[in-house]
Amino acid sequence: MGSEEVLRELATDLQRIIRATAETVGSGQTSELVDKVTDWLGVPLSQVVVVGRQWESWEHANLQRGVDAYLAERGTGPEWFGLVGGHRGNEELVSMLASARRHGMYELGAVDFATAAIGPDEATEVVQLGLITTKAPDGTRVVIGVRGANPQFGQAMCRVEVLSVARETATVVRDRVEHLMSVHDVFRGQVLAFGTSENRGNELLTFLPRPKLADEDVVLPDGVLDAIERHTVSIASHGERLLAAGQHLKRGLLLHGPPGTGKTHTVRYLMGRLPGSTVIVLTGLAMRYITKAAELARRLQPSLVVLEDVDLIAQDRSHTPMGNPLLFTLLDAMDGVGHDADVTFLLTTNRAEELERALADRPGRVDLAIEIPKPDAEGRLKLLRLYGRGVDLTADLGPVVEQSEGVTASFVKELLRRAALRSIVEDPDRTPVTVGDRELTAALSEMNEAHNALTRSLLGNGSGA
Ligand SMILES: Nc1ncnc2c1ncn2[C@@H]1O[C@H](COP(=O)(O)OP(=O)(O)O)[C@@H](O)[C@H]1O
Ligand SMILES: [Mg+2]
Repeated sequence: MGSEEVLRELATDLQRIIRATAETVGSGQTSELVDKVTDWLGVPLSQVVVVGRQWESWEHANLQRGVDAYLAERGTGPEWFGLVGGHRGNEELVSMLASARRHGMYELGAVDFATAAIGPDEATEVVQLGLITTKAPDGTRVVIGVRGANPQFGQAMCRVEVLSVARETATVVRDRVEHLMSVHDVFRGQVLAFGTSENRGNELLTFLPRPKLADEDVVLPDGVLDAIERHTVSIASHGERLLAAGQHLKRGLLLHGPPGTGKTHTVRYLMGRLPGSTVIVLTGLAMRYITKAAELARRLQPSLVVLEDVDLIAQDRSHTPMGNPLLFTLLDAMDGVGHDADVTFLLTTNRAEELERALADRPGRVDLAIEIPKPDAEGRLKLLRLYGRGVDLTADLGPVVEQSEGVTASFVKELLRRAALRSIVEDPDRTPVTVGDRELTAALSEMNEAHNALTRSLLGNGSGA
């Protein structure tokens, strides 16, 4: 902890004590809620010391995990209690207790629970506002208070507050909870994405399922996927020996190429090839969370930070005389992760040129750039077969391969879907769905027609885009 932070905490503590004292002096009222705390601690409220810490709202599940593990360690089986009444905004727990005593504003009541995600389709119950009596490792009695974020009431972070007779005791407990949070970190090894919750207006870290793609699902020219895996998966699996040999682990990989060629597809494939890695995905607007994402990546190593379509930020026109602020923040964040960290930054872009200058000006961030090209004839044939897997593909593929020169992989995928749809519309009862020359040729000319120019450029047809 920095000395500035110590001072800030001290100041906060002093404020709390002064406030608590002022509010309790001369108050003869009793409060079941306050008694529950003071009876346990054995001192009046004015002598209670509080040590707290707060975290980003999305750490709530970790906070709960840490507190639960702490309670399990101390071997007590106490019950949470809550407080009701008042407005329960951004007040400190001690002030709430003081108000309870002085104005009867808060009373002993049920605990507030909420749910927090701990996986793509798993959630856990967390205490949104509650207190619990327990002991410090040395046996001293303490009370732990937990609060979730409550952005509507100006409480952006979640926090823990440890109430005790002595500052050191409370600090020990708080630090132990924090340690246990990292031991039981729910984010480790997960696929995570940053975003914003529209209804709550706060930042979110959501869990995504980890995609599982086979090698043959990714159609790229020979050697391309190998080179990508060497730079990501291989470095990860030989990390210790590389470090021992004086090599660094951190790496930056840029996948560039026209839209629809499979950059995102390849990223998804890699996620499946790195099952033990934490993945943090930032797309579009979420790119502004890059600093937080880099922090998480460092904490949750081995990890993969995916920065999708970085050209979007390279194009950001809010330039300063120094250049593009968000792009610089991104490069700084990449730089801020130590060389020994097992962290991969995986960037994708449709416009490598836009990034080139920025990256060239500050070398060392991206150490491998790989082009994901449009498929050649062999690639198009493989793609036709890949996306024709679910149908009876009787068409002669040679002519289609020839006539589709310059299209992207996603174009071929869409071509098969349209051909299958034609077949189904024509003969709804035929199973399996058959795609013959007629359907495939019709679908191809449909997609090639002039009035489909927009679709064509969206899907990345060579003649259009
Ligand atoms: N190289 C490829 N091999 C197999 N399928 C691909 C390939 N490229 C694209 N696709 C298919 O097209 C879809 C869109 O491609 P995507 O990876 O999003 O393109 P990009 O990110 O390069 O713009 C993918 O989800 C995948 O189904
Ligand atoms: Mg993409």
